[in-house]
Amino acid sequence: MADPAHFAIEYEINPHMDSSYVVDRARVRDQWESLQQVFEALGLDVYVLDPVEGLPDMVFTANHGLFFEREGESQFLPARMKYEQRAGEIDAVVAELSRTGVHVLDPPESVFEGSGDAMTHPDDETLWVGYGPRTERAAVDEIARITGRETIGVELLTDDFYHLDTCFEHLTDDVALAYPGAIADADCRKLEQAYDDIIEISHEESGRMAGNAYCPDGENVIIDEEAVETIRKLEEFGFTVHPVDTSEFRKSGGSVYCMKLQVPPSI
Ligand code: ARG
Repeated sequence: MADPAHFAIEYEINPHMDSSYVVDRARVRDQWESLQQVFEALGLDVYVLDPVEGLPDMVFTANHGLFFEREGESQFLPARMKYEQRAGEIDAVVAELSRTGVHVLDPPESVFEGSGDAMTHPDDETLWVGYGPRTERAAVDEIARITGRETIGVELLTDDFYHLDTCFEHLTDDVALAYPGAIADADCRKLEQAYDDIIEISHEESGRMAGNAYCPDGENVIIDEEAVETIRKLEEFGFTVHPVDTSEFRKSGGSVYCMKLQVPPSI
């Protein structure tokens, strides 16, 4: 995670953002710390990146790149952000990772917004890569070459759902959570074939970032507390749900999933 000291809405690069909105610093801190506590209570070690002044979106660490294993080695592919306003975040993360000994690659040539768009299926063989509003179509093949994974592009249809993690998450090898209205029909069918069950998010809750939930272990799901109907569906499926308030971060177009970058245990 990245410390939210400089989190703010200073520009508008997605339709959720309104740069006239002044964030409530106390609520930002509270919400971010509560999320960290839920991660830790679930047994996850949280490493916190220092905040950098002038980089208000740094808290959305999912976009900074993608970790993957290749030939027994952990590698990190940094993002190439679409908007200049977020480019400095990548330099900060790469500088930090160079100290850990992880093999940091050059970013791809195409726009690629990290693990907000590239999700490793829990089988570790397939990568779903969302493209359209941010990550470019050409990145799908580039990521396949770089990672050596089977890579399947998922076309995102609207700017409201500008990263794959705003409308799709896998929960277990068999179950995923999705708002199909944001995804091209043909790609929805590929997702339906890959999972036994897809828990559907309603149009209304999709706008409250219900699709930005995170399931670290196949059992527990962390999700914004306002997604009440989705929470009920998840519980019916047997998941243990941990509702959290991410309302300040939702004003920037982000919620649970994008406020963390999952790091391999070897680092
Ligand atoms: N304001 C940020 C942006 O537009 C939010 C990023 C949210 N990240 C995500 N993976 N959905 O880039």
